[in-house]
Amino acid sequence: MSVERYDPIANPYAPGAGTPPPALVGRDDIIDDASIALQRWKAARTSQHLLVTGLRGVGKTVLLGKLAALGEHAGYRVIRVEALGGDDTLRSFLRQARRIVEELDGGARVGRALRSIESVSLTVVGTGVAVERQATTPDREALSDVVTDVVAAAADDGLGIMIALDEAQMLDHHDIRRLLAGAHRCGQDGLPLYAVLAGLPNLVGDVAKAATYAERMFTVADLGPLTPDQVVEAVVTPAEEIGVSWTPDASEAIVDLSDGFPFFVQTWAYHTWNAAIDDPISAADVERAAPNANHALDSSFFAARIARIPASEVAYVQALASLGPGPHRSGDVAAAADKTTPQVAAFRDRLIDEGVIYAPRYGWVEFAIPHFDRYVARALPNA
Ligand SMILES: Nc1ncnc2c1ncn2[C@@H]1O[C@H](COP(=O)(O)OP(=O)(O)O)[C@@H](O)[C@H]1O
Ligand SMILES: [Mg+2]
Repeated sequence: MSVERYDPIANPYAPGAGTPPPALVGRDDIIDDASIALQRWKAARTSQHLLVTGLRGVGKTVLLGKLAALGEHAGYRVIRVEALGGDDTLRSFLRQARRIVEELDGGARVGRALRSIESVSLTVVGTGVAVERQATTPDREALSDVVTDVVAAAADDGLGIMIALDEAQMLDHHDIRRLLAGAHRCGQDGLPLYAVLAGLPNLVGDVAKAATYAERMFTVADLGPLTPDQVVEAVVTPAEEIGVSWTPDASEAIVDLSDGFPFFVQTWAYHTWNAAIDDPISAADVERAAPNANHALDSSFFAARIARIPASEVAYVQALASLGPGPHRSGDVAAAADKTTPQVAAFRDRLIDEGVIYAPRYGWVEFAIPHFDRYVARALPNA
């Protein structure tokens, strides 16, 4: 059967960055574990914090948002920051910490928390705090005191603190160390702090390097692609709820095209909905959507990444892409670029800093963006 067109305004799918999907699939276990951790901390029982890792578009930010909502529901005040590199991250962290403390019901520990916030704020230009200038010396190390003092002040008020830090691989490693030191102390004192750090897979190594005890503080949830069943659920359920069906062939086509990556699932489902003329939505409809879906992926998701890459680094990107998907040895990439490893080391490091590639293990590199090798072969073919 054929329909006029499905209403684009009713299109339930949500391709984007951090845009909550209509059906958040495959994350129930992580959400349940986090919920238990939140409640344990509130009951003065310790628990591990959480590292959420994965490639771009796998659903880290969305999950972080979900867990933050869970935290608020469980009696936590949430400090939610996306690390951008530079002091902006810390500035935002301090502003939110300060706002939370100011809204607390007085208490001796509030003054103390404000003083440690001021002490760190004075090391960061433009934090915009105006505390009565007491005998506070600027001290960035006091960031760990900010964590413990803010949590202690909140605990006096029956509240917990949740730190939800996105793109955490971009945070200065000294600041990571200071935050973890504060969190570690909260754990020893039984104070209700729950930290969720989300980032690219190399975040696990960054955290491990920050302190000897850091690895043991965290559970790692490494988000991989969704299973075929989960993709089908993500596609079919939201449509069903508004009376629209997909044929099994059509949802299978999305499984194949997306390789299970949530961003691709949302993009393909979204464009298929808008292009569809069959009822139920058919595999032919998925094909009809291909030009728009591919164009959307190329011009937003992929191009946004490559746009920031200077020409000098593009050759490295092309060399890596020429080796196909998956991780590759740094030496092989250099060879593919007709260079030696030391000659390309600076490009490699900058691309890691920019989050285009990451090092899954020492001496190896991989694109941090799924299907990026195919994109480069398509868009920048003269490798
Ligand atoms: N569990 C999920 N099920 C279905 N779609 C998801 C899921 N997680 C994320 N998405 C979708 O994937 C896209 C990318 O999510 P995002 O959280 O921004 O990824 P990341 O932060 O890892 O780059 C969004 O369009 C979002 O709606
Ligand atoms: Mg994200």
